[in-house]
Amino acid sequence: MAVKIGFVGCGGIANAHMNNLAKIENAQMVAFSDIVEEKAQAAADKFGGASFGADYAKMYEEAGLDAVYVCLPPFAHEDQELLAVDAGLPLFVEKPIALSMDKAREIEAAIADAGVINCSAYHWRTHDTAKWAMEALAGDRIGLVLGWWMGGLPGVMWWRQQDMSGGQILEQTTHIIDMARYIAGDVERVSAEMALRVMTDVEKISVPDVGTVNLRFETGAIGNITNSCIPPGWKNGLVVIGEKKTVIFDQFNFELRSSSGTETKTFQPIAAHFRESVLFVDAVEQNDQSLILSDYANGVKSLAVSIAANESAVSGAPIMLSDV
Ligand SMILES: NC(=O)c1ccc[n+]([C@@H]2O[C@H](COP(=O)([O-])OP(=O)(O)OC[C@H]3O[C@@H](n4cnc5c(N)ncnc54)[C@H](O)[C@@H]3O)[C@@H](O)[C@H]2O)c1
Repeated sequence: MAVKIGFVGCGGIANAHMNNLAKIENAQMVAFSDIVEEKAQAAADKFGGASFGADYAKMYEEAGLDAVYVCLPPFAHEDQELLAVDAGLPLFVEKPIALSMDKAREIEAAIADAGVINCSAYHWRTHDTAKWAMEALAGDRIGLVLGWWMGGLPGVMWWRQQDMSGGQILEQTTHIIDMARYIAGDVERVSAEMALRVMTDVEKISVPDVGTVNLRFETGAIGNITNSCIPPGWKNGLVVIGEKKTVIFDQFNFELRSSSGTETKTFQPIAAHFRESVLFVDAVEQNDQSLILSDYANGVKSLAVSIAANESAVSGAPIMLSDV
């Protein structure tokens, strides 16, 4: 029996997930909801199943779902996850999982109480490059983590507004923060500088277009993550310097440097988003949370680093993660 899936939010990333789920044998999309009702209807027309317009609560009650994909912008998380969890439904939640720690922690607690299968969509973890980096650095003493996300400006209007998206450090660079945490462990302290320097003429823009964040990890390792949304952008990736090995990687390229020389590998064939959905659907089907590489609680921890960075950029003071 296929896992029956409903969507809340049928925009850009939702459609990418829908295209993947359509190729996954044990998944079946049966219901769609979006405040823009035409988007829910368009998804239902394309992938089969019913549109519930803007009424996700009705969808949870009537669609016979086994799981929900929540693909909302950061500002739009209200009770969509809470009602799904009340209905006992497993959750796949796009990153960043919320705009505030209060909302994220409320949902985290509800998920823990209900014990439903849950995933925060940090798909970088499913890349082969991430697996190789983890394997290469296992047992090594990590000293320094450098990361960068030099993207352009996404076309959606909410993204450029700080009170809707949280800015690039929350929105996109969260992938790099999550990878840094995956490899080097939890973060203890954050200090940041951010500015809107160049893109001041862009309509409605209030997010910084440049920023840099210093990290101190609980292990004592240190890091820096730098980002910009000034087009055309450059690269996204990380360098991790350990005692015996240095690893340089992004989503597709991996380089390992050690006293035995330099090894490079390139990853292409299976898209990480596809793999992430395969794992989620299998986890729901088998009721096995261990298949999921990033649970909701992990998403809360990665969110906390971005929120601390934003707070530090405003106050000018370092922020302890324990205070966020
Ligand atoms: N993991 C990734 O690689 C990746 C890539 C892109 C986007 N994302 C994340 O996915 C989320 C959505 O991004 P997007 O690019 O799909 O944005 P989008 O604007 O294209 O789509 C968002 C959709 O949510 C709908 N929506 C807004 N408020 C709603 C509400 N209250 N109820 C129901 N629907 C509502 C909108 O109408 C829209 O269709 C963001 O958090 C973004 O960071 C992740």
